[in-house]
Amino acid sequence: MVAPRLAEVEDVLRACSRVPEIPLLEEVLGAVLLAPGKRLRPALALHVAAIVGGRPEAVAKLAAATEVLHSATLVHDDIVDSSPERRGQPAVHVMWSQKIAVLAGDYLFATAADLVAQLDRPVIVRLFAATIHDMSTSEFVTPTYDDDGKLAREQYLRKIGHKTASLFALACEAAAVLGDCPAAEQKAFRDLGWSLGMAFQITDDILDISGLVAETGKPVGTDLRAGLVTLPVILYLGDRAGDDDPVRAVLTGKATDDADVMQALDAIKSSGAVEDAAAVAGRYAVQAGAALDRVRPSPSRESLAAFIHQATERTR
Ligand code: IPE
Ligand code: IPE
Ligand code: MG
Ligand code: MG
Repeated sequence: MVAPRLAEVEDVLRACSRVPEIPLLEEVLGAVLLAPGKRLRPALALHVAAIVGGRPEAVAKLAAATEVLHSATLVHDDIVDSSPERRGQPAVHVMWSQKIAVLAGDYLFATAADLVAQLDRPVIVRLFAATIHDMSTSEFVTPTYDDDGKLAREQYLRKIGHKTASLFALACEAAAVLGDCPAAEQKAFRDLGWSLGMAFQITDDILDISGLVAETGKPVGTDLRAGLVTLPVILYLGDRAGDDDPVRAVLTGKATDDADVMQALDAIKSSGAVEDAAAVAGRYAVQAGAALDRVRPSPSRESLAAFIHQATERTR
């Protein structure tokens, strides 16, 4: 059962948010770490641990470390994306300032490193370091739309692999390492996490177009306003050439009003591109399921299969 273990992860997160000697930092950390996130990365690590074992205290620390690292990247990501809301609340850079968001994000990166160091497993430290490299380099890549969208699609998939799938893969692989799995099974868990992460980010990019703010806690159209070419946009543009296209107008910054953005989102939604992108996400979810088939059978494996399904059918 993963739910009681998640309560232990919350305890670790609460402990991480305590810095009584710096009240401002403690306030920011509380707002970030205790806000109602979905806790998917820790849940994933716990599901893997339920299959392969591992000391519960170490597993809880590892699971918490994935959430703290995720939180650090979100605090910085909202600055990079100029996104004003997160988890239904103003983002840290809005609620406080950009300076505070940079500093609190840095503090969270260090906190994740500290939790991982406490595991005393150099392999896991290396996995974390590689993941942070992947995540930070991903933001240097901006897919650009070319003639037929092929290059943009390749760049997009590489980018989301680095920024999102890498952390899902880490959560699975590191939990497998803690459970002292055979190498082939560790690789199966890594592959599972990677594919699930790809499906998850594509779904996130769809929700930026067709999601409901009340469910996601994030505004819609943020990616489009920022000129970000995501999979539904690439698929949409593939069928359209005209320069007067409402989506191109927002992407290039020629149209900036809320009404322009809504018109662009409607154009994408009615084009079928959202469904086509969802089909690509579905294929990654199937790959995640296939990787799970390479793992030893158990009732916990069935729970993980159900989790994969839920995570890819999400609306929030
Ligand atoms: C948001 O992740 C960032 C992405 C990788 C898409 P989540 O959707 O898991 O965010 P929370 O933790 O539930 O808020
Ligand atoms: C994921 O991408 C961000 C990170 C992995 C840090 P997004 O930029 O799409 O995430 P949201 O939509 O802001 O949560
Ligand atoms: Mg963002
Ligand atoms: Mg997004």
